[in-house]
Order: sequence, then structure tokens, then C-alpha cells
Amino acid sequence: MKRTIIITGGAGFIGSHVVRLFVNKYPEYKIINLDKLTYAGNLANLKDVEGKPNYKFVKLDICDFEGVYKLMQDEHVDGVIHLAAESHVDRSIKDPFTFAQTNVMGTLSLLQAAKLYWEALPEKWEGKRFYHISTDEVYGALELTHPQGIEPPFSTKASSGKHHLAYGDKFFTEDLKYLPHSPYSAAKAASDHFVRAFHDTYGLPTVVTNCSNNYGPYQFPEKLIPLFINNIRHKKPLPVYGKGENVRDWLYVEDHARAIDLIFHEGKVAETYNIGGFNEWKNIDLIKVLINTVDCLLGRAEGEDLSLITYVTDRAGHDMRYAIDSTKLQKELGWEPSLQFEEGIEKTVRWYLDNQEWMDNVTSGDYQKYYEEMYQRR
Ligand code: NAD
Ligand code: DAU
Repeated sequence: MKRTIIITGGAGFIGSHVVRLFVNKYPEYKIINLDKLTYAGNLANLKDVEGKPNYKFVKLDICDFEGVYKLMQDEHVDGVIHLAAESHVDRSIKDPFTFAQTNVMGTLSLLQAAKLYWEALPEKWEGKRFYHISTDEVYGALELTHPQGIEPPFSTKASSGKHHLAYGDKFFTEDLKYLPHSPYSAAKAASDHFVRAFHDTYGLPTVVTNCSNNYGPYQFPEKLIPLFINNIRHKKPLPVYGKGENVRDWLYVEDHARAIDLIFHEGKVAETYNIGGFNEWKNIDLIKVLINTVDCLLGRAEGEDLSLITYVTDRAGHDMRYAIDSTKLQKELGWEPSLQFEEGIEKTVRWYLDNQEWMDNVTSGDYQKYYEEMYQRR
């Protein structure tokens, strides 16, 4: 079946993996990457697909309602996969307004454009889908009731036998109340509420997913994993917030993209699915794995760079533990992560070490010239 799908935020970290997957897997679809190209958007993330006939890039702000509505009409769009957002918690603490504007008003503008366009068609909602990508952070923070770790309820491929522990007895399930703490997660929570309201009020065929921390290639180096890999490589200090005891639940980004593909096609309308691989790590343990992996791949002595660890003032309102229960997605749609964590981390470290030019372009700001060079002169 032919489809025309807008993927918002396709020039960002997760969005670029979703665009790549859809463009390569569905040559019969038209994939429109709608992105404003903020500091987090980098078209070089998609060099390998930009010449494909079923791919189109449109530079647009999701808050531009008229622009989005016109694009939907002109392109006869029947699906939206919405990833565009301001995504970094530390930035949200400094500048909450931008987060409310993009994450709340931007989502509302997309919802309204999709609703007005689709409801005026003879077939209305038939064959249409609005898929909103959200985060586990909307559920708030879990306690660290078992600091030494306990066996989690499920064994999946994402965690290896070596490190297969949970740091508490509670998990984020789809029926939990929202309790966001940071301006980022509050804005994401508000956007999730709007998406559900558009289903309940107008019948818009929506689906929402809440995923845990992603890692992998093309992540902007303000986030823990790429920032630290780059700092270790250049022997720069590693700023660990607080005591480094906070726990995050890590999922390889391509496994998230595969889940998005599955849920876009087979997920039930109006449902919520949590996505995660039961793969909890204390920050400090993860940081030691990163140091060992980088040192090993660069031929440095084991533990040589442990001295780069520098404890700094904690993040304000720092959530202690995130842990997703993805049982519903695993049971209802048969998804499971494909990679063991050790494999995923080694693959990721190798990618950043092998792609120093990508990293240098991002850290120097040169990546922002890519759009002018590749698209403006066409
Ligand atoms: P990112 O910051 O790497 O990319 C965001 C993209 O959105 C960029 O390309 C940026 O240019 C674009 N964008 C920002 N504002 C825009 C606007 N007003 N109009 C159009 N485009 C705009 O983000 P990411 O880490 O890839 O996250 C993508 C989505 O997934 C977000 O909605 C985020 O909340 C969610 N999420 C992220 C994670 C994670 O671990 N990174 C986990 C769960 C959910
Ligand atoms: O859980 C999903 C969320 O994961 C996504 O919704 C967000 O978009 C994404 O940014 C991520 O949020 P976190 O705040 O968990 O990710 P970050 O990489 O910023 O930090 C991971 C952990 O590492 C967190 O406990 C804070 C800590 N940290 C982070 C940085 C950047 C440090 O100790 N030092 C640092 O310099």
C-alpha cells in the first residue's frame, strides 16, 4: 500500500534512525522529514538516504500551523510520526519557555492540522494515524529501594546475564499517573495529554509510546553517552552529577526505531505502549563501562582514564531511577530488543571513535552549514 508519512524531528538522533528505517524498508511509501533544524537537527545524520526517491526533507517549524496544514494538504499525508521536541533536561532547566513552546504548542499545532485535514476528507480517519513519541520521564522518578540490585521480573535480550539487575521493585507501567518533575518532562506530559484529548474529543486515530533512555550513533553530544565517549577520547574531565547513583534504563536506538515501525503499523488506536529492555544501570557503573571500552579500543591501559571522573553539583530535581515495564508491548505485539547491552555499547563506542569527523562537525558547529550547502543551492 502507498502511504505518505510525515516524520517530525527526523534530523535528530532517534528521528534519523526512524527515517532511515522507513525509507529503506518501505520504498512504496513517501517519507517526509519535517524538521526545523534547531541546534539538535543535523542533516548529515541522513546522508545515506538523502538521494532516495521516496525521501523528502522539509525545513519547517511544527509550531507553524499554516505551514504544517498546507504541507498535509499538498502531500496528501495519511500518517504522522511525531518526534520533534526539545529533548535535553539540562536545557529545560535553563529555558523552560522554549520547551513549552515546541513540545506543547508544536504538538498542538500538528494535532490540529492533522484533525482539520483528515476530518474534511470523504474517508475521514480511515487509514490515518497520528503517532506521538513520548518518554518514560512523564511518570516521574522511581525509588532506589534495592541499591545492590535485584533480579528484574523479565529476562530479555537487552540485558546480559552479567548485568541483569533492577534497582527497585517498582516499574513504569502504562496505567501509572503522570508525575513529571523537570520542565522537559512536564512539557512532554502536557503534549501526551493533548494527543489523548484529540482522540477522545474528535476521534483522531492516535497512539502514544513512552520509551526509556536511548543510546547509539548520531546522538547529540550534550547527552551522557556521546559526551563522555568524546571526553574520554580527548582525556577531558567527566562531569558526574551528584554521586553518580541515579539509574537509567538504556535501549539501543535501532530497537526503539523497530518498535516504532511495529506500533505505527500494528498498534491499537488510542493505546499507550511502554518501550524498554529491562536494562538498568547506575550512571557510575555505566561510566566505568564506557571508560573501559574506549580505553580498550584505543589500546590504552585498563583503567587509565578512571581518573577523569569528576563529581559535580547535582542536576536540580534529578530523577533517581527510571525503569520501564514493556511487558504489554512484548506480549501484545511480540517486540523484543535485538541487542545485548554489551554488544550495543561496544558498537556505539566504536561508531563514535570511527566517526570523529561527525563529532568534530557537531562540536565546532560546522554541521549547521550542511543545510545551506546541500539544500539551499538546489
Ligand atoms: P533530538 O534533540 O536529538 O532531536 C530533536 C529533533 O527535533 C531535532 O532534529 C530538531 O531540529 C527537531 N525540532 C526541535 N524543535 C522543532 C520544531 N519546533 N519544529 C520542527 N522540528 C524541531 O531528540 P531525540 O533524543 O532524538 O528525541 C526524539 C523524541 O523522542 C523526542 O520527542 C523525545 O522526547 C523522545 N524520547 C527521547 C529519548 C532519548 O533517550 N533521547 C527517549 C524517549 C523519548
Ligand atoms: O528517559 C528518557 C529520556 O532520556 C529522554 O526523554 C530525554 O530526551 C533524554 O535526554 C534522556 O534524559 P536523561 O536526563 O536521562 O539523559 P542524559 O543523557 O542527559 O543523562 C543521563 C544521566 O546521566 C542522568 O542521570 C544525568 C546524568 N548526567 C548527564 C550528563 C549530561 C551526568 O551525570 N553528567 C552529565 O554531564
